[in-house]
Amino acid sequence: MPIFLDCDPGIDDAFAIMVLLGIKRLTLLGISTVGGNVPLELTSLNARRVLELCGRGEIPVAGGRPGPLQKTLVSAEEVHGRDGLGNISLPEPAAPEAKGGGISLLVDKILSVPRAILLATAPLTNVAVALAEHPEIRSHIQRIVWMGGSTSFGNVTPAAEYNAWADPEAARQVIRSGVPFVMVGLNVTHQVALDRATLAHYRALGNRVAATAAQMLDFYVTFHEQVAGTDRSPIHDAVAAVAAVYPASLRTAACAVDVETTGELTEGATVVDLRGLVAPERPIEVGMDVDAEFHLEVMRDALASFA
Ligand code: RIB
Ligand code: CA
Repeated sequence: MPIFLDCDPGIDDAFAIMVLLGIKRLTLLGISTVGGNVPLELTSLNARRVLELCGRGEIPVAGGRPGPLQKTLVSAEEVHGRDGLGNISLPEPAAPEAKGGGISLLVDKILSVPRAILLATAPLTNVAVALAEHPEIRSHIQRIVWMGGSTSFGNVTPAAEYNAWADPEAARQVIRSGVPFVMVGLNVTHQVALDRATLAHYRALGNRVAATAAQMLDFYVTFHEQVAGTDRSPIHDAVAAVAAVYPASLRTAACAVDVETTGELTEGATVVDLRGLVAPERPIEVGMDVDAEFHLEVMRDALASFA
């Protein structure tokens, strides 16, 4: 199944790209970027830098929306570094950004195949605009797999996860769109953690991509050590990527889901009806449990696949 990625690299987005490229049977149609972890100019540059590092500069990248539909962008340099990749200063990419912008790239690439998976690891601004302005893509999307939301705890506020909180209006529009949707929330991504021992294993793989991944992830693990007192760091976007490629690795529940857009304490919360109180027209597939060992194995094998 071909995959199109919308992301905001960001360390875990960048790692997700490396993992996807390391799964050789996969076709990555293209990458659109959005303002999120860092501003749009950097998320686009970072996606191109990672593709160049992996020798896949031919995969098209284009920047979409710089910020949310209504809110003002709040970025996360404290988590991802000033450059968005842990301040590792990857070289400039040779390949230029694709012309026409990220939303056109997303639409063109999705329409170019009968069915595709749309993997989104960022605020859903680009996806919301693409679905609103180009409804013809709906029938070409086998499913949207989103790293976002949560069935319980948040990470930006006690109630809200960053990708939902950054643009709750976009998240609400896409979740209500009726396009088949799989939510890979914090309740799932926190089941898969990498730590300093994992980074040592990546360095021992002996290739430049794995070594760069370890260098980039070092910043991310240090952040988690500082805020959580442990080096066990949830690698959110890579979990969504592996779940998109290997859906059997994620146990889901079909639930009604909506997004709070105005709550004083709950803005950005994904409200998940786990007890079937509401009969939704089209339930969302909400991730509940994941095979963490398998995910870490896929990530390691993907990094090992680079020369
Ligand atoms: O809450 C985690 C999500 O927010 C991840 O996608 C991370 O990259 C940030 O965008
Ligand atoms: Ca992200």
